[in-house]
Amino acid sequence: MMLQEHSSPPAKKYKPDSLLVSFSTKQNMLGSRKDTVSVEQQRRSLPIHQARIQLINQLRQLDCAVLIGETGSGKTTQVPQYLFEAGIGRQGIVGITQPRRVAALSLAARVAEEKKTELGKLVGYTVRFEDATSDETKIKFLTDGMLLREAIGDPLLRRYSVVILDEAHERTVHTDVLFGVVKAAQRKRKDLDKPPLKVLIMSATVDVDLFSQYFNKAPVLYLEGRQHPIQIFYTKQPQSDYLHAALVSLFQIHQEAEAAHDILAFLTGQEEIEAMAKTCRDISKHLPDGCPQMVVVPLYASLPPTQQLRVFQSVPKGCRKVILSTNIAETSITISGIKYVIDTGMVKAKKYNPESGLEVLAVQRVAKAQAWQRSGRAGREDSGICYRLYTEEEFEKFDSMTVPEIQRCNLAGVMLHLMAMRIPNVMTFDFMSKPSPNAIQAAVDQLDLLGAVDRKDGQLLLTALGRKMAAFPLEPKFSKTILLSSEFHCAEEILTIIAVLSVDSVLYNPPTKREDVQSARKKFISSEGDHMTLLNIYRAFKNVSRNKEWCRENFVNNRNMMLASEVRSQLRDICLKLGMPLESSRMDTGNIRRCLAHGLFMHVAELQLDGTYVTLDTHQPVAIHPSSVLFHCKPAYVIYNELLHTSKCYMRDLCVIDSEWLYETAPDYFRRKLKSNKN
Ligand code: CDP
Ligand code: MG
Repeated sequence: MMLQEHSSPPAKKYKPDSLLVSFSTKQNMLGSRKDTVSVEQQRRSLPIHQARIQLINQLRQLDCAVLIGETGSGKTTQVPQYLFEAGIGRQGIVGITQPRRVAALSLAARVAEEKKTELGKLVGYTVRFEDATSDETKIKFLTDGMLLREAIGDPLLRRYSVVILDEAHERTVHTDVLFGVVKAAQRKRKDLDKPPLKVLIMSATVDVDLFSQYFNKAPVLYLEGRQHPIQIFYTKQPQSDYLHAALVSLFQIHQEAEAAHDILAFLTGQEEIEAMAKTCRDISKHLPDGCPQMVVVPLYASLPPTQQLRVFQSVPKGCRKVILSTNIAETSITISGIKYVIDTGMVKAKKYNPESGLEVLAVQRVAKAQAWQRSGRAGREDSGICYRLYTEEEFEKFDSMTVPEIQRCNLAGVMLHLMAMRIPNVMTFDFMSKPSPNAIQAAVDQLDLLGAVDRKDGQLLLTALGRKMAAFPLEPKFSKTILLSSEFHCAEEILTIIAVLSVDSVLYNPPTKREDVQSARKKFISSEGDHMTLLNIYRAFKNVSRNKEWCRENFVNNRNMMLASEVRSQLRDICLKLGMPLESSRMDTGNIRRCLAHGLFMHVAELQLDGTYVTLDTHQPVAIHPSSVLFHCKPAYVIYNELLHTSKCYMRDLCVIDSEWLYETAPDYFRRKLKSNKN
């Protein structure tokens, strides 16, 4: 039987016990390749298809269920269609959340194709700053962040008859908050005799006890996948340089394996992936005759969607596809043809320390659960091989599960949104995995500093400013900056800067053309920092009427720029609704920088006598990121947008400010900070 109900989750199927390990033994037919069979045939060949009737019967009866199944078994694309076809929840919308924007886009497109309808009609999607839905939309893919925003307007989620929280194992902060929001909505709708809300949690990992417990012991439906045997190899020695190890392994495989067998390597981020892609292309030019040609395809979240789609395209016969990906290919995107997986065992993830208030993106070890997901990518259609670039002893020391993001991020935005949803007692919100009391307190303190909350009779309340801040789909500090901008008569400029910073990089830096890039960019560079430089670029872009050719000549990413312009107009609409006066400061950049300093005063770094920087907040040593226009400069005070921890702790996107401005913004805070720093 394909679908089994477990009162408790089944034991882990795969356990390595030697250097060379075989995975589970279920042998099955090859999965069908996209290019040879119809979409309908593909649907029928998915593992989930055999469980269809049973699944529909179960879901018809249950208010809440947890569905688990291997990546690629058809959960995300099929379950919403099954529900729709069976008439379950037709009175409302079936909403399916995704942690990633690209996944929501590509899945909606795929399901629309399967249903033979135009995207945006029956099947649609909503992601931040982009809405492709209509009155006809019944199957709606949306990012978890968007559903959360909708819940601010309507905590009962009345438009939805079914909410599917997908990729639940990823435990993004938004999904985690949604667990609580959806649970509360379901209960309240019952209490108020409203149409019921069905909740389905879908996950690719088997550790789902927590989900089931949290949703009042919801039944766990276990979908058998089509896992083929996978051999796992560990390195004999720990590797000090995982990138080098990945490169060596990649070319070893490339020189020995059959050309039709594709390789997927897991790396950590855009820069690393682009650099590795270049190296691979260079090396592959100089390989001996007889070696297959290599087609290197990068994959990361910020890659433009059209380029992301390249991972799905087949390559000419006799060529090998090599995909260099972040953890995006772990579960949210399924690529056919992969025979070899190279797992560096590393991932870039957010870390947060509530004591120091420091939130950093850092490259770190994956959890065991992630390593298993990665290996699984090799056995989708046939037996596969996974090379783990770490020793088995090292692997044994990995955490078993990823720590949920909610326990390692700054919660200011979450708390603001919970309060905007009028959830009583946010300090004791029913989180599935509770963040530490320190982290919650730190978030509330931060909102307090931003002027978003107030205490009254021991109760925490949103201020008028706080309520306005929650209206923007942005981090509290950015919403605050926008709201402040009318005081500084520079709302138009601040809107531009924040819009450009909200999309993926608008600058395009091909490593082969470094000098051309530099000379093209010179005319936009501002000695006052990256924010001002971006403002100049956006202005120039507008002046040439968003010309594509101009973008190409100036190494500007046209698509992201267009998106920024769209984002800007949406943010501007919110400002207009709030009745904000929108003025331009024109050539006066002082006001703009002053406004940025007032909004981002918690992210200030000060130049030290020895030429290094430390943050004023926690006295953490930081450095200017090489991508900043201020890289070779040493201004006394800067604000930064974020910290990135790689070999050092880097500040990204900087703006030069005056220290006096800081005293204006938050006199008490800076008096305290400067005092404690001198201790
Ligand atoms: O959610 P789950 O990982 O169980 O699978 P899915 O996302 O529903 O994908 C099922 C299958 O649909 C994949 O194995 C792909 O063959 C196909 N698919 C596709 O071709 N294009 C997409 N954008 C998404 C899925
Ligand atoms: Mg899925």
